[in-house]
Amino acid sequence: KPHATLIFSRHGESQWNVDNRFTGWVDVDLSAKGLGEAKAAGGLLKTEGIKVDMAFTSYLKRAIKTCDLALEAADQLYVPVTKSWRLNERMYGALTGLDKKETVKKHGADQVQIWRRSFDIPPPNIDESSEFNPAKERKYASLNKADIPKTECLKDTIARVMPFWEETIAPALKSGKTVFVAAHGNSIRAILKFLEGISDDAITGLEIPTGRPLMYKLDKDLKPLSCDEAIAPLKFGKYLGNLDEIKAAAEAVKNQTKVAAAPAGGGGSDSK
Ligand code: 3PG
Repeated sequence: KPHATLIFSRHGESQWNVDNRFTGWVDVDLSAKGLGEAKAAGGLLKTEGIKVDMAFTSYLKRAIKTCDLALEAADQLYVPVTKSWRLNERMYGALTGLDKKETVKKHGADQVQIWRRSFDIPPPNIDESSEFNPAKERKYASLNKADIPKTECLKDTIARVMPFWEETIAPALKSGKTVFVAAHGNSIRAILKFLEGISDDAITGLEIPTGRPLMYKLDKDLKPLSCDEAIAPLKFGKYLGNLDEIKAAAEAVKNQTKVAAAPAGGGGSDSK
């Protein structure tokens, strides 16, 4: 019997999703399309008759604005929103700011797939002097220096997201609340790995599209109830909205690092 409801939404499309750059902790804004996605997500909450009790989001504006715009579209802007750096996107280290396809051309598709989706292999550390180094940002001034990552693999992201789940989100769900989490592709993947019991191998195949509410009904022990509309590798989550669109959007996230194979050799000017 459902005891609590949990809805995730990755932020709407961001400016760097448009530019296809690794983003991580860089505080880029939503694109015009992303603003529309955030409002549409709220529209789906409304049509599904979902009454949110508490919302949680990150320190990054693409998620914060998605949270606010979705709640506004659901006519529930009064809902309390708690922000935590622990819900930030995984930190991409030295890849931060790089074009995803350029990075594939430079390092090869296999290496980039490992950095993007492996469980425990992080990209190289960000340079201390990088303009994208979060250590100097005022918004993280209250954190222990050791908590500010120089890079993260998914395992690292799980290690800093899950204390927030244990201490803040899970108790709200245990008390029967309907909770909305507006966060990021990999901070959501971190929680889903736990919630859905996804293996270290299978998690590499989980892609999260932007701005699409994903709903879980949980029992009193916060075990997800089965759902026959789940999209593999999810078994319990139910996406709200058009499932064909959602499958296509998830595939598009996967293909952000797909580079057309170079044409077969020969014929170039140097072949004389
Ligand atoms: C980013 O940080 O670039 C994106 O939000 C997630 O990127 P990914 O899907 O390549 O991990």
